[in-house]
Amino acid sequence: MSSINYAEKIPNNVNLATDRTLQRALEHWQPHFLQWWGEMGPTDFQKADVYLRTAVSVDADGWAQYGAVKMPDYRWGIFLADPAANRAIGFGDAMGKPAWQQVPGEYRSTLRRLIVTQGDTEPASVEQQRLLGHSCPSLYDLRNLFQINVEEGRHLWAMVYLLHAYFGRDGREEAEELLARHSGDSDKPRILTTFNEPISDWLSLFCFTYFTDRDGKYQLKSLAESAFDPLSRTCRFMLTEEAHHMFVGETGLSRVVKRTLEVMKELGTDDPSRIRAHGAVDLPLLQKYLNFWCSSSLDLFGSEISSNSAANFANGLKGRPDESQYDDHVLRSSTFKMHTPSGTEDVPMLNALNEVMRESYLKDCEIGLKRWNRTIERAGHAFRLTLPSSRFRRSIGAWAGQPVNPEGKTISKEEHEKNLWQWIPSEADRSFVHSLMQRVIEPGKMAGWIAPPERGINNLPVEHQYVKLQ
Ligand SMILES: [Fe+2]
Ligand SMILES: [Fe+2]
Repeated sequence: MSSINYAEKIPNNVNLATDRTLQRALEHWQPHFLQWWGEMGPTDFQKADVYLRTAVSVDADGWAQYGAVKMPDYRWGIFLADPAANRAIGFGDAMGKPAWQQVPGEYRSTLRRLIVTQGDTEPASVEQQRLLGHSCPSLYDLRNLFQINVEEGRHLWAMVYLLHAYFGRDGREEAEELLARHSGDSDKPRILTTFNEPISDWLSLFCFTYFTDRDGKYQLKSLAESAFDPLSRTCRFMLTEEAHHMFVGETGLSRVVKRTLEVMKELGTDDPSRIRAHGAVDLPLLQKYLNFWCSSSLDLFGSEISSNSAANFANGLKGRPDESQYDDHVLRSSTFKMHTPSGTEDVPMLNALNEVMRESYLKDCEIGLKRWNRTIERAGHAFRLTLPSSRFRRSIGAWAGQPVNPEGKTISKEEHEKNLWQWIPSEADRSFVHSLMQRVIEPGKMAGWIAPPERGINNLPVEHQYVKLQ
């Protein structure tokens, strides 16, 4: 186990002190990061004491320490999972050869682009969520939001370390650019569309952490397979932190469902207008939010048929999540049955990897829905939450711009236009959800639209004062 040196300005387990040039470059970037945090991070809570976990080792058990921290004092650092001895490339044409400790010249720009694209999403999500603290449904939730925010900040550090350590001047310039683009900015937006969508209510936050952080999980898992070993080790450790973000999404949405069912029981109705009048989220409204964020996140996997994904796999840059679960790791002779608007065709498997990943992602997304539906069923209601078809509301790939309903059926443009606001949140839906977002900051108390969590953080009671506001 490599322990982390907290005596240093930048906590790390990469022996930063032995590389003075790199250390100086990162120490030069550090104040720029802190300035970005001050300007673009959570608004108005920088003096609050937040009960946060901080990574203190990369050991599987006991890697984190908990305690009250003011966010600007958080120890953002550089942590890589321990190296696997004699690690070999696990897929692609160079399978079985030793993993790379340096960037091969011919893959330099592609690897840099993969790292920058991943890196860009991390600060983007902090920017998207920066106003949410003001409308938190509880101190418990407020703490979870800030935990996610500081960890996305650390994920930015993880990518910036790779850029600085392995990509020379280009890498340093990219690191500056990661702080210069901003979510939703008309001149310099973030790279991927989903990360420019505003997240101005907590229902969206829970959907985002359920669907979009889960896309992050799949991206990190595929990069964790990379032949470029420092990238693999970086991503493996990021996944440890990422799990909590999806936990927040899944339990957050569970608590919304639970509360809605309580209100339905109390009122003896499933009439959406009465449920709304009582200050809760009716299930059809929740379905619209799921449709919106799921379809938006599906675009993040890229085009159905992609020569980039084929090259990235063949060259060993990016594998499939959990590559070892497959039998064939070269994929030169298999095909995939791809459904596109022009029919079904057999596509070389290498060119279909985005779709392969999207399908396994959707299976993972199903798990939460099954759980929520069981609760709904047990409460005696016929309503079921579903995932939209991967053809619905796509902006990228074969189905981009196609008039398709959430069940995946192609319909006329008119019908699509007429029904769209039955499927995704309308202005009126959004303003209703906003009206629910009243902040609750008494320890242990919850807003009326969400049930309390089953347990607190790190064995503390739910009533614990997770954030001390100053
Ligand atoms: Fe992240
Ligand atoms: Fe995340």
